[in-house]
Amino acid sequence: MKQKLEEIRKDALAAIEGAQDSAALENLRVSYLGKKGQLTAVLKQMGKLSAEERPVIGQIANEVREALGGAISAQAEKLEKAALALRLKAEAVDVTIPGTPVELGHRHPLSLILDEAKDVFIGMGFSIAEGPEVELAEYNFTRLNTEEGHPARDWGDTFYITEDSSVLLRTQTSPMQVRAMETMPLPLRIIAPGRVYRKDEVDATHSPMFHQLEGLVVDKGITMADLKGTLETLVKRLYGPDSVVRFRPHHFPFTEPSCELDVQCFECKGQGCRVCKNEGWIELLGAGMVHPKVLEGCGIDTEVYSGFAFGIGLERMTMRRFSISDLRLIFENDMRFLAQF
Ligand code: PHE
Repeated sequence: MKQKLEEIRKDALAAIEGAQDSAALENLRVSYLGKKGQLTAVLKQMGKLSAEERPVIGQIANEVREALGGAISAQAEKLEKAALALRLKAEAVDVTIPGTPVELGHRHPLSLILDEAKDVFIGMGFSIAEGPEVELAEYNFTRLNTEEGHPARDWGDTFYITEDSSVLLRTQTSPMQVRAMETMPLPLRIIAPGRVYRKDEVDATHSPMFHQLEGLVVDKGITMADLKGTLETLVKRLYGPDSVVRFRPHHFPFTEPSCELDVQCFECKGQGCRVCKNEGWIELLGAGMVHPKVLEGCGIDTEVYSGFAFGIGLERMTMRRFSISDLRLIFENDMRFLAQF
């Protein structure tokens, strides 16, 4: 029996040391120390021993049980440590590995110019207004002193939404003048940037969709001098303090008098070159004093109030600013083009 116990001790210790995981270890515990285990089976036969042998074998049996129990705990601890080490290794983060770069986008050239213009106007006390791109002909034309039958209302130039020509895609941001005068208290100082639509074929200078920035000031004692000062400030801020501007008489139905603003060609300083098509000047925007009929149509007393308005073509501004030769580049979203800004 003593021999049997020693055998069990030897086999069990070897098996325990070789156990590779906690499940195997638990199996070993059951098979040696469990109720039906090998050691227990030996102990159950103690009764057959003589009175002299019993305490001797009993002591050995106890030693074996303790040895096995100790070995199992030790192995369990060892396995736990190994598992932890493995996990730490697996979950370790190598902080020296270069990260995956996050590609930061940037603003579109048109947005750059729009944001700059907004900054300039906000600095002069303007606020920003927004309005619908699907507009009533009433606002887009009629109330801007552009009566039924006016050539600007032609179906060939305008995207009408309804057969009766009462709803359309706005052809200009100028309806925002009427919307602002109708809803906002005087004095008024707003800009209204946004998309406008005209039935133009796409080419280097035309697109059926483009952007304008409308401006409107209505207050007591507003004159052409305010218009000139405001727009000259804008141009000098956007194109540099040395820019030279000129105001040229023009016609718009909703302003009187009307003008266009040209900036002297930056390329040739007015001598005439390819950029300005030999003109020496580059047209930037339309403007004028708000027509009394338009003011009165919005219930404004023209004996007390006067105003000026302007409309800037944002694509044109952007193209001039960055020397972009083809309008289509602005809308094609070719990364080789956009990445340059
Ligand atoms: N709406 C005009 C256009 O599209 C520009 C303009 C705006 C002119 C405001 C005068 C005043 O050409």
